[in-house]
Amino acid sequence: MMKQIQWFPGHMFKSLREIKEKIKLMDIVIVLLDARLPFSSVNPELNKIISHKPTIILFNKMDLADEKILNHFESHYKRLGYATLKIDAQSGKNVNKIHPLAQEVLKEKLNRERSKGLKERPIRTMILGIPNVGKSTLINQLSKSSATKTGNTPGVTKAQQWIKLGDNFELLDTPGVLWPKFEDKRVGYHLAITGAIKDKILPEDDIVHYALTFLKEKYLERLKERYGIQGDEDYVSMLDHIGKSRGCLIKGGEIDYQRVYTIILTDIRNKQLGGLSFDRLEDVPL
Ligand code: G4P
Repeated sequence: MMKQIQWFPGHMFKSLREIKEKIKLMDIVIVLLDARLPFSSVNPELNKIISHKPTIILFNKMDLADEKILNHFESHYKRLGYATLKIDAQSGKNVNKIHPLAQEVLKEKLNRERSKGLKERPIRTMILGIPNVGKSTLINQLSKSSATKTGNTPGVTKAQQWIKLGDNFELLDTPGVLWPKFEDKRVGYHLAITGAIKDKILPEDDIVHYALTFLKEKYLERLKERYGIQGDEDYVSMLDHIGKSRGCLIKGGEIDYQRVYTIILTDIRNKQLGGLSFDRLEDVPL
């Protein structure tokens, strides 16, 4: 069992009360999940936090995920009644679909306001997610997507404590940083492999052992293609093979395993093995 205390700094827990309080002011909550980890990147308190607020789930980093697996999860969340969207906040893909989706979810409320003669207004939202899931990247993208941006008007303008993102959304300047699950060792590995947790909470050799074993089971063809392994090697033989073929040697011809670990993790995170997903719907208690 991993030591819970080391996982996340206290301020994340402290901000929870503030988030719960501020959520009452929102029209809709935007939850960012990592498309490669649609289960492991869920905050364990999420349901309690969002309570009955209308919610959109965004699967960010879709460019890095295994599309087929991601589609399974998306259908699952849709069946649970969530509005969902796959996005790539870095390139901006599908970011322009977030506002129409929010309008759709809030249709009744917005129609009611319109029928009372109220003016169109930005949708008030909070963007929640674990660290590194892409919240800042998305906020930057949304602030660019102003339909009527003119001259030097900045996309992000601060009015009282509300931050206007383009014309479509307003955010409260409360950071929506949540901590991930930490009771489940597998979840910890998935977060570490994808770089969601950067601290040295798990030893690198453990992470790579998990990763390579997982890839051999689920993505053997990709491993064969990238590293020229046969597929019948054990773990250490795979490392040796990759080390030799990449020239990761120290004096005496020994393998420099540290460099092999770095190669494997960098390849995974930079899509050198194609889109990868680490959670599987059949493996998780959703
Ligand atoms: P946060 O605010 O939720 O903590 O996350 P942030 O936006 O800082 O994003 C974390 C990293 O993820 C950033 O990389 C960012 O560019 C990357 N990222 C965000 N959205 C996407 C996406 O849709 N696709 C891909 N491929 N990457 C995305 P970074 O600043 O380079 O940090 P790192 O590479 O050192 O982790």
